[in-house]
Amino acid sequence: MAKLIGGLGTSHVPSIAAAIDKGLAGTDAWKPFFDGYVPAKEWIARAKPDIAVVIFNDHGNSFFLDRVPTFAVGCAEEYRPVDEGWGPRPIPPFEGAADFSWHLIDTLVDNRFDPMICQEIEVDHGLQVPMELFFGRPEAWPVRVVPIFVNVIQYPIPLPSRCYEMGRVLRQAIESWPGDERVVVIGTGGLSHQLQGSRAGFVNPEADRAFLKDIATDPDRLAAMSRERYVEMFGSEGAELMMWLVMRGAMDRDVVVRHTHYFVPASMTGAGMIVMENAATAEAVGPGAPSPGPEAPATDPEARAA
Ligand code: DHB
Ligand code: FE
Repeated sequence: MAKLIGGLGTSHVPSIAAAIDKGLAGTDAWKPFFDGYVPAKEWIARAKPDIAVVIFNDHGNSFFLDRVPTFAVGCAEEYRPVDEGWGPRPIPPFEGAADFSWHLIDTLVDNRFDPMICQEIEVDHGLQVPMELFFGRPEAWPVRVVPIFVNVIQYPIPLPSRCYEMGRVLRQAIESWPGDERVVVIGTGGLSHQLQGSRAGFVNPEADRAFLKDIATDPDRLAAMSRERYVEMFGSEGAELMMWLVMRGAMDRDVVVRHTHYFVPASMTGAGMIVMENAATAEAVGPGAPSPGPEAPATDPEARAA
């Protein structure tokens, strides 16, 4: 069977890619952001995954509002990075793991999840940016990718609890796959941001820091929160955070946090990152003691008080 070796979460803000493209990563404005990812990159270089399952949302590039699947899974041999209007980016295409993708789709349908099946699709900053943050700028990506698209744009978006349940089925697919690949699951999006409407520019660093703690220690609470509560606490686009629950649902209840990072604002967003391993099978690929994660109150003080 394939092996789940880690659950990672990261923001996917497009200006991160622009900063890399323009050579700004070492500037005063960006260096503290990129420095926080160095231990995560080192972790992944040692962990040597073969496949990255990346959960993200398309932002009107491959699906426009006229046709939005709630869940979609890519099963292509290759995914080209979509041109989002600034011209083609200097990054290689992403090699697919089509064989595992079809197995994942089979497993999802067997478990009453019925995703859209995409044999040809381009991927936007939602996938590109996390790959660059964790793998840098290689000539060819060192992993094959399985993209899972979640609608967090057009209401009705799925329930957070449904995303969490989908993660459990993803785990089942990994463990029932006859190959011996090492798999990382990467949840993307968030943290708090709102790009439009009366609350444009809204960020909530306190809630973000709490989320980074709770995603490791209290994911059931995050899965039980309503969609409306995500929008209230994290902003309308901050609702992207429910995609981290697909990743978390694939992990065991008990995890070890290897690395976390928080930086605000990156563009208009509270930017966060986490690297977790299942406690039962932790391989200690990170140096030194596990990071305890940021000290912060519970994600939802109201729910905790209730
Ligand atoms: C920004 C953040 C996002 O997650 C996104 O998809 C687009 C823009 C931003 O902060 O600018
Ligand atoms: Fe986004």
